[in-house]
Amino acid sequence: MLDQLSEIEKSALVGLADAQDEVALETWRVRNLGRSSDLMKVFAELAGLSKAERPAVGQAANRLRTALEAAMAERLREVRQRSLERSLAETRLDVTLPGRPYRRGRLHPSTQQLRRVLAILADMGFQVYTSPEVETDELNFQLLNFPPHHPAREMQDSLYVEAPGRGDNPILMRTHTSPGQIRAMREYSATDPKNPPPIRIALPGMCFRHEQITARSEVQFNQVEGLAVGERITFSDLKGTLTNFARRMFGQTARVRFRASYFPFTEPSAEMDVECFVCGGNGCAVCKRSGWLEILGSGMVHPTVLENGGYDPRRFTGFAFGMGPERQLMLRHRIEDIRYFWANDLRFLEQF
Ligand code: DAH
Repeated sequence: MLDQLSEIEKSALVGLADAQDEVALETWRVRNLGRSSDLMKVFAELAGLSKAERPAVGQAANRLRTALEAAMAERLREVRQRSLERSLAETRLDVTLPGRPYRRGRLHPSTQQLRRVLAILADMGFQVYTSPEVETDELNFQLLNFPPHHPAREMQDSLYVEAPGRGDNPILMRTHTSPGQIRAMREYSATDPKNPPPIRIALPGMCFRHEQITARSEVQFNQVEGLAVGERITFSDLKGTLTNFARRMFGQTARVRFRASYFPFTEPSAEMDVECFVCGGNGCAVCKRSGWLEILGSGMVHPTVLENGGYDPRRFTGFAFGMGPERQLMLRHRIEDIRYFWANDLRFLEQF
């Protein structure tokens, strides 16, 4: 039986040297140390041996099992080490490979411009105030002093959420940020000791119009509205604030001019132009040879609007203005088609 053990050992060690990977090693283990291996049969046969033979054979079998287990562990280490070396050699780092660029996300150009506008207004004491994109006809038009048959109220200009005609106050998508003026005045009431006037708010947000989509008009666009209401606020405050804004936005040497205009909710009303920064005022395609670019609408808050906001027009005055960040970007970067803004074309967006 001792001879048989040394046969087992010899053939096991030969087989072990042939095992080249972990799978082969497992096969080897099952064959040589598994339950039906020759070695385990020796253990099973121990009981049938004489008392004299049993200890020597038992000890030898135990030794052989320990030795084979140790040899297998050693072989396993070798096999693993070799496979590690092979994979390191095969997958060597190639430092000459060009890098893989990864795309960085960024803010949408409109958001960037909105933030520029708001940062300047915040420096000047205007607090950001937001109001809903869905409004009632009353807030979007009536309280802003739009006469009943003002063209801006016509159906082709507004996107109604409710069919108009079923009542005199249908719900619609706001066509401008101006209804936020009423909301802000009502929220920061003239008589609230916690929020005493003046109000100075900047009101950013998306506006919606029922427009034919063309290079110059979109069904949605951003506006930033400004509103200042308090005692002794005058038209020179309006001019000073907006001139200062223009210099901060378009450069310290930017020249501006005010032109008389008309809006139902302001009186008097004015539009502000900035000297064309493309041609320096000489006249070019961007300013249509005029040398000036129209930047915003503005005016002194109409007494009726003050009243609708809860402010007594005999005591309070105010000014308001509204501008379009997409328009500013189009002028600044000579973007010729407003449809680029919502087309989600990365080739356009990545330039900002
Ligand atoms: N709401 C006007 C529009 O959408 C823009 C505007 C003009 C806002 C004059 C104002 C303002 O606050 O005073 O065309």
